[in-house]
Amino acid sequence: MNTYVTGNTIRQLREGRKLTQAELAERIGVSSKTISKWETAKGLPDISLLQPLAQALGISVIELMNGEQITNRNISANMLRCQFYGCPLCGNVIHGMGNAVISCCGVTLPVLEAEEADEAHMLSIENVEDEQFITIHHPMTKQHFISFGAFVTSDRIQMVKFYPEGNAETRMQLRGRGYFYYYCNRHGLFRKKV
Ligand SMILES: [Fe+2]
Repeated sequence: MNTYVTGNTIRQLREGRKLTQAELAERIGVSSKTISKWETAKGLPDISLLQPLAQALGISVIELMNGEQITNRNISANMLRCQFYGCPLCGNVIHGMGNAVISCCGVTLPVLEAEEADEAHMLSIENVEDEQFITIHHPMTKQHFISFGAFVTSDRIQMVKFYPEGNAETRMQLRGRGYFYYYCNRHGLFRKKV
């Protein structure tokens, strides 16, 4: 995350909205020269101008600060397009049905990109009565462990927390087709089609 809005962001958003510097200036009550200064990194908007600036550019203040506009279409259409965000500092995990600007511990969280399960992060599923027993074959030390697992289908998510020095295994009813996601604190997010 940028610590403050940047001139580049202002220029890109202004041009994206087909506004001239003069037009944007007029909307927020500054001179076009001021806009030009911001865009060429010779100055930054006063904090009191962030809200009017964001409004004039048609985005939220948080998107303006982050330098990224979030547009989600049909957010409820399919849970399989959901995202996981992970905090590298405290280990918090946030699940979103679409993209979002999410921060934790003062850090803007990246979307965790899932890789297909590899040899060091294998997952096995065994049927036990009407449930499934899921095991992730991985060390569970304090330094290197699987921190959560989640089964995601098009209409639901089941999430389970794992703890270091415990086992990365759980019983769940895996109903329908979907992906089992699991997160290693060192190697990132993995998934397996179920
Ligand atoms: Fe790992």
